[in-house]
Amino acid sequence: MDKLRIIGGHRLSGRVEVSGAKNASLPAMAASLLTDKTLKLDNVPAVWDSATMRRLLGELGAQLQQVKPDDPHRFEISVPSVRSFEAPYELVKTMRASVLVLGPLLARHGRARVSLPGGCAIGARPIDLHLSALEKLGATVRIEHGFVDVQSDGLRGAEIYFDNVTVTGTENILMAACLAKGETLLGNCAQEPEVVDLADLLGRMGARIEGAGTRTIRVAGVERLEGATHSVIPDRIEAGTLIVAGAIAGDEIEVVHCDPHHLTALLEKLSEIGIESEVGEKLVRVKGGAGLRAANLRTLPYPGFPTDMQAQLMTLLTQAEGTSLVAETIFENRFMHVAELNRMGADVGLDGRTAVVKGPTPLSGARVMATDLRASACLVVAGLAAQGQTLIDRVYHLDRGYERLEEKLARLGAEIERLQQ
Ligand code: EPZ
Repeated sequence: MDKLRIIGGHRLSGRVEVSGAKNASLPAMAASLLTDKTLKLDNVPAVWDSATMRRLLGELGAQLQQVKPDDPHRFEISVPSVRSFEAPYELVKTMRASVLVLGPLLARHGRARVSLPGGCAIGARPIDLHLSALEKLGATVRIEHGFVDVQSDGLRGAEIYFDNVTVTGTENILMAACLAKGETLLGNCAQEPEVVDLADLLGRMGARIEGAGTRTIRVAGVERLEGATHSVIPDRIEAGTLIVAGAIAGDEIEVVHCDPHHLTALLEKLSEIGIESEVGEKLVRVKGGAGLRAANLRTLPYPGFPTDMQAQLMTLLTQAEGTSLVAETIFENRFMHVAELNRMGADVGLDGRTAVVKGPTPLSGARVMATDLRASACLVVAGLAAQGQTLIDRVYHLDRGYERLEEKLARLGAEIERLQQ
């Protein structure tokens, strides 16, 4: 298992490019199941989760082709016919987002059988809201032998209100409703940019969708969907991670090929802490700062502060003057990184779903363990600011959602390398 070795204390400077969004590319690829025509996708990040989704689609009958042998970001995907309607345990256990094939497979093929995603490091993460919404569209849902089996002889539009804002839940039902008879009204939807990007793609395929990006989405079902060409939006969480790296260890860095509009909550929080940033066309310029101020943080659905940036921002708050309260409202167990940060010299206490961060405390390099995707990013950020060497185990978590992060940081002047083992 690969490790990352970081020697901290180097000042970062220069330009760094953001890759396409993992959480937009996964539903975009799953949308290929909705048509027998070809989807041409660009700006797909070369990360493990993208590869897992391609493997899963291949199992279901998709034909996937990289447009250019040397360009791992452009694909053509077509599903002339559905060869299998089952998403196997082996794949689903490595990537919960496999559940995104449920809606499109059911809508196109009338049946889908997906291994139920088990527990996850950051929370129970049930899919009950996906299933109850599919039932409202007229599907029958059976759970047996660790699988959810959904069937329908033709989905019908309905009024659906999500009890809880759910990103992949909104995406799954949005895809299913595109081919349902009649109109579907979705309430309390997720407003994440990734949901809007999916609606854009579906619109290019001929779907009739209104209101994506708001809490209420209306879908008028159509008979069939066509092929389309679509470039996936930039990854706002990767951009955010690089911006925080610049804030904690940078002189001045420029994060390019990102969409600053998707980063408002983060940039406002950084300003509160004392880190000013400049926004330009598809770029954010940030200067590292001293005299950081403590600030309270509450994770919320978009446009609130993203839970996927909570761990990275907490690392910055360990270097701020005073006590910061970090409330995690989305996932019930997303503080696995706290113990590792404390091993590096941070002073973070836990009180239920609130972390109490006291600072500033100097960080010192240590051997640490990544527990999930964003916790591993948090440890990379900590390693950049720490004195001495940090060795991060289990970086396979990082590779699921970041494209060669260590190379990007090294180009900014970080002393970081992957130890292949
Ligand atoms: C998406 O997960 C993202 N993943 C997550 O990013 C992100 O953390 C999360 O949204 C929140 O922003 C992808 O887009 C692939 P939810 P998702 O359904 O859709 C509860 C990363 O690091 N819930 O919005 O699975 C759930 O348990 C990943 O890239 C139900 O109770 O999250 C959670 O507490 C991690 N029943 C809350 O809602 C349901 O049926 C929000 O979850 C569905 C969700």
